[in-house]
Amino acid sequence: MRDSKNRKKLIDGEGWDNESRTPNSPLHAAKVHKGGILMKRTLFIALLFTVVAGFAFADTQVGIVLPTKDEPRWIQDQTRFLDALKSAGFSAKVLFSQGDSAKEKANVEALISEKIKVLIICPQDGTAAAAAADLAHKAGVKVISYDRLIRDTTSVDYYVTFDSFMVGKAWGDYLNSKVPAGSKGNNLYIYAGAASDNNAFIFFEGAWSALQPKIADGTYIVRNSDKAVALKDKAKLTRDEEAQIIGQVTTNWNFNDAKNKAEANLTAVGKEAKGTVYICAPNDGTARAIADAFAADKDVKTYYITGQDAEIASIQYIIDGKQSMTVLKDVRTLVKDAINAAVAYMKGQTPPVTAYYNNGKKDVPAKPTAIVTVTKENVKKEIIDSGYWPADKFTGLK
Ligand code: BGC
Repeated sequence: MRDSKNRKKLIDGEGWDNESRTPNSPLHAAKVHKGGILMKRTLFIALLFTVVAGFAFADTQVGIVLPTKDEPRWIQDQTRFLDALKSAGFSAKVLFSQGDSAKEKANVEALISEKIKVLIICPQDGTAAAAAADLAHKAGVKVISYDRLIRDTTSVDYYVTFDSFMVGKAWGDYLNSKVPAGSKGNNLYIYAGAASDNNAFIFFEGAWSALQPKIADGTYIVRNSDKAVALKDKAKLTRDEEAQIIGQVTTNWNFNDAKNKAEANLTAVGKEAKGTVYICAPNDGTARAIADAFAADKDVKTYYITGQDAEIASIQYIIDGKQSMTVLKDVRTLVKDAINAAVAYMKGQTPPVTAYYNNGKKDVPAKPTAIVTVTKENVKKEIIDSGYWPADKFTGLK
């Protein structure tokens, strides 16, 4: 993808359509010589140099593969990567898999052929990505699982992530804090991420840890999952049991699926399951879709709904009172941790380890980052004053 369109985008400092290279790459280094006889000679020498050294310059040191451009979350990550890579001191390339594990594998193969030393990859499907990780490992590439864990392979060297259990627990704690003390029979709707994403399970575990005692004691009635109702007395679920519930309430991380599921759930229940409702939604994109569906139902009088990612659109929803909370996962930290780990590997060192995550085959050394609950009350402090998003992205901010 070395066409002029991509080159222009790099110079403009924007993301590229299919891939993005860092300023340390040869494209950037090659763009400067212009005009005059002296300049022509310089150009000739530069060209010669490029031809002679072209082979070495074709290498990319670090390959970054992200799941999709269709969700603002991963565009956030691309943007933060491109920012951080300006001063990282190595050449890198960002590729997107567009929700397709085959494309993800092809991306990894392309990067291996460019002789990457380190692969930073957020898998589209945690299990399917094992094959790509194995290929990279065979080629001597260090594999860093980014945000989502690659499962069922020993070919993962390191995992940079957020504390996903705490993300789910933050949802449960938030909803619990809104339930009137001592009340019974409150309407609870739960939704989950894609079953192909290991994180969906960890988020669910965190949420269940906070919600289950109050489902068991009758504070809540789960209105959209008979599996959750059947398992309500079990504090700790097996992965299989979690999969049964997730199978019923998954959004597949897809906004349309989320909206359709919420509408179907509302159609399936009577008025007694509406009124004031508590909704455990798994991320900002799906939360907005689900919130819109609940807001459109005339029998829903008040709803509380969770989210995560601090997406701009959801911060606006929070300011407008249409989404109750989000979880800020500071992508700048995740990017920094991934880059530091890549540098450590390239220097023959090992990155810092503060936890291990079992991926079915291995306890993967990891560095989880803390999360922050954001509501209308602290949105200015956590989002604007922290520099996460500029104030001019929002209206009605106090
Ligand atoms: C990420 C979330 C994201 C979701 C959907 C999860 O693995 O941790 O931040 O919203 O995938 O893309």
